[in-house]
Amino acid sequence: MLYKNPARSMIALFAILFFMTQAAQAEGPAPKLANVTILATGGTIAGTGASSTTTVGYTAATVGVQRLIQAVPELAKVANVSGEQVFQIASENMSNEHWLILAKRVNVLLAQANVDGIVITHGTDTLEETAYFLNLVVKSRKPVVLVGAMRPSTAISADGPINLYNAVLLAASQEAIGKGVLVAMNDQIQAAREVTKVNTSTLDAFRTPELGMLGYIQGSKAFFYRQVVRKHTFETEFDISKVAVLPQVDIVYGYANMGPVAVDAFMAAGAKGIVHAGVGDGSLAAKVVPALKAARAKGAVVVRASRVGQGILARNGEANDDELDFVVADTLNAQKARILLMLALTKTSDTKEIQRMFYTY
Ligand code: SIN
Repeated sequence: MLYKNPARSMIALFAILFFMTQAAQAEGPAPKLANVTILATGGTIAGTGASSTTTVGYTAATVGVQRLIQAVPELAKVANVSGEQVFQIASENMSNEHWLILAKRVNVLLAQANVDGIVITHGTDTLEETAYFLNLVVKSRKPVVLVGAMRPSTAISADGPINLYNAVLLAASQEAIGKGVLVAMNDQIQAAREVTKVNTSTLDAFRTPELGMLGYIQGSKAFFYRQVVRKHTFETEFDISKVAVLPQVDIVYGYANMGPVAVDAFMAAGAKGIVHAGVGDGSLAAKVVPALKAARAKGAVVVRASRVGQGILARNGEANDDELDFVVADTLNAQKARILLMLALTKTSDTKEIQRMFYTY
């Protein structure tokens, strides 16, 4: 706005500045961004393929955390983001030792006043297991969000960048506080206890069968519609701060023609617990029962789960659990039952107590 008279130009300029200042004051100060730490562990989200059309047969866990962050400049709009490379592995190699290192690091970071939330980038194959482990041992109400990708970073329409953006905004959100460990994939928010990978390769591979996801991420906002009622994170009785090694617990898979070989082999290798992923409602083949009884007699805790993937495992239904002194997995799938049994065994070997934990977490 230029007037021939310089005095009038100055007055107009001051007027514009005055109204801009008033408008800014009316809006209030810019909201403070949350501080979110991204802990990178590898997986397809950090994977690279031979070409842009390579969506299978690529190499997981090759791109470092700083490059993942730089690839999504939009992250700076939703949080102050920092990154740490904790591991660089494909998630089929995730182990109890990795979990202990990761969980201890998460607890240290969340105890700091300058950390508001954590995002963990992870391979999708065992993401649900790491999420549930953390859901039981993280001692904080602050958000912890796991995220992965079904397509490598080099693919056309890679899902990693949008998933990472959603995970960071979820970890930075007030809505995610106190909700337990969450999984952000494909614009959906899932609970660590219930989510499972149900497809080998499609983008909608993460589902919570029957019980349903918790909510959506849309338009840079998290929308919750449900919450988990089972105890988690700050409410659990598990403390891994002094645990150096988790007890050995293995899974045997039920199938037609099943025999005792796998149970006997795990016991010979030192198992302290066996999760039996039985057919149907956790039924036990006649040939496996003596091996499981022998395992229990040697002190191992036997948990009956189901390979079906949905529904409650009925106590004293397909087997007399009271008589056999077995525990049932409730609705946990076998891989999550293994995690809860390991943590339970760090506290007790009393099967009644362990059964209580399965109905609590
Ligand atoms: C992995 O789990 O590390 C590989 C597969 C994936 O991330 O989707």
